[in-house]
Amino acid sequence: MEFSVKSRSAAAPRTACLVLGVYENGKLPATTAAIDRTTDGYLSKIIKGGDLEGQPGQSLLLHAVPGIPCQRLLLVGAGPEGTLNDRAYGKLLGCTFSTLASSGTREAMFQLAELEVEGRDTAWKLSQTIAVGQQSLYRFDRLKTALARPVLRGVSPSLEKSRAPKRPALRRVCLLVERKELAKAKKTLAQAAATAHGVDLAQDLANLPANICTPNYLLKEARKIARGHKSVTVRALNEAAMKKLGMGALLSVAQGSRTPPQLIIIQYKGAAARQKPVALIGKGVTFDSGGISLKPGAAMDEMKFDMCGAATVLGTMAAVAEMKLPLNLVALIPATENLPDGNASKPGDVVTTLSGQTVEILNTDAEGRLILCDTLSYAARFKPELMIDVATLTGACMVALGGHPSGLFSNHPPLAAALLKAGTYSQDRAWELPLWDEYQDQLKSNFADMANIGGRHGGAITAAAFLSRFATHTHWAHLDIAGTAWKSGAKKGATGRPVPLLTRFLLEHCGVLARDGLMSRSTGRARGTLGQ
Ligand code: BES
Ligand code: MN
Ligand code: ZN
Repeated sequence: MEFSVKSRSAAAPRTACLVLGVYENGKLPATTAAIDRTTDGYLSKIIKGGDLEGQPGQSLLLHAVPGIPCQRLLLVGAGPEGTLNDRAYGKLLGCTFSTLASSGTREAMFQLAELEVEGRDTAWKLSQTIAVGQQSLYRFDRLKTALARPVLRGVSPSLEKSRAPKRPALRRVCLLVERKELAKAKKTLAQAAATAHGVDLAQDLANLPANICTPNYLLKEARKIARGHKSVTVRALNEAAMKKLGMGALLSVAQGSRTPPQLIIIQYKGAAARQKPVALIGKGVTFDSGGISLKPGAAMDEMKFDMCGAATVLGTMAAVAEMKLPLNLVALIPATENLPDGNASKPGDVVTTLSGQTVEILNTDAEGRLILCDTLSYAARFKPELMIDVATLTGACMVALGGHPSGLFSNHPPLAAALLKAGTYSQDRAWELPLWDEYQDQLKSNFADMANIGGRHGGAITAAAFLSRFATHTHWAHLDIAGTAWKSGAKKGATGRPVPLLTRFLLEHCGVLARDGLMSRSTGRARGTLGQ
């Protein structure tokens, strides 16, 4: 999909499909009203006829409307004037893209940045348009072949349709803005497109099955990013290197599998060498069977998604490199399988972590924290200004928050606040949970410094409390994405979250928005918005 921006002129543009908003109760936004006049009231007549009430999520596709050079006109409901909020605007965009996708049009022009959304400017509306467009047009069909099609053709149309995914017909979308906003809109567009590419990459990697997407495959993908950008370099620690360093926790997970683990290290240099990097750490369990504490069989296939943290860190890295952000970034990805081999860790085993602290493994299914704890310790070598880990860490997080926000934990309130803000802006929200000392007691072990599980209560929090013991060297935040990284059921598949949140956070953090004048003067500072 290709997006562009253009300044809007008074006359209707020549296009295969012009998309216009319509308020509820027959009221028309300025541009829609102007086109209505050009068409001699054709649009208002149709609306008065009751074909479109104007609620968000409703649309009406018109062909060959007289008096304008557009093959089609798509009218989309925008609710009562002045009532659009973030969610309703998202719904309106979703409806627009799904209607366009099934209409057969290859190209469209959107006149939707004109609609007022409470508290949002043009940049936000454009970013959302691209984000929603990417999501609604995303397909993962590379593992489906055309082989089944000739047999099915003509036999059962519904079966044929389900087996033969078509590429979306919509190829080009042009977003119309006011002339004075054009320069700014172009920058926004480039940033939003880079984010969308990052989301796309994260979704593709996460959707791949575990027999294809192995730790080595993730390493190759990291190298692919490096090949595309001079500013990115990649190296990796293999099992021998991990042993030498003393990463006993990470190794204890990897030893249950015959597929070798990798600790992937990706560095992006976009600022002076003396500038401390931001560290992103992504859980890369390419398949989580639970190990000896084996998971039940139902929906176990979804544990191929246990590398979504890694996928989103790679997606964010790709987006940052594409945007050439003025910051330094290091991504660390512990990648391994968690399987029940004869050599696998057993409940009760005690391991020594890279930090020197010992851990009693009471449940081999709590493996994410084991691979992350050594990686958090290892991150200290890069002297990061702050670090953020992203992990499909606990089913308990899904129980606590459902599937809408990611769980957020931090040892530094300004960092938590900045991440929450970035999530709200990008519609990839997080919600903070407490990381109080009281929870640490649940990790007591009779045989080691700590246990790797904390009992039934507050499971997402005790997992974060465990990680916090290895993140004492810098500002740190943890995103538990167990509920947000993928969808189950008929629409099973990766979401690419939280690439939008992380990318927005980094954009705000490095100060380019303030420099471009895209941020309000009261909140925009050149750098270092997190305090000390
Ligand atoms: N990868 C899982 C968490 C998970 C489970 C995410 C289901 C999404 C859906 C993680 O490694 C795990 O197994 N966690 C255990 C921890 C428990 C043993 C303390 C869990 O959540 O059950
Ligand atoms: Mn597990
Ligand atoms: Zn896991």
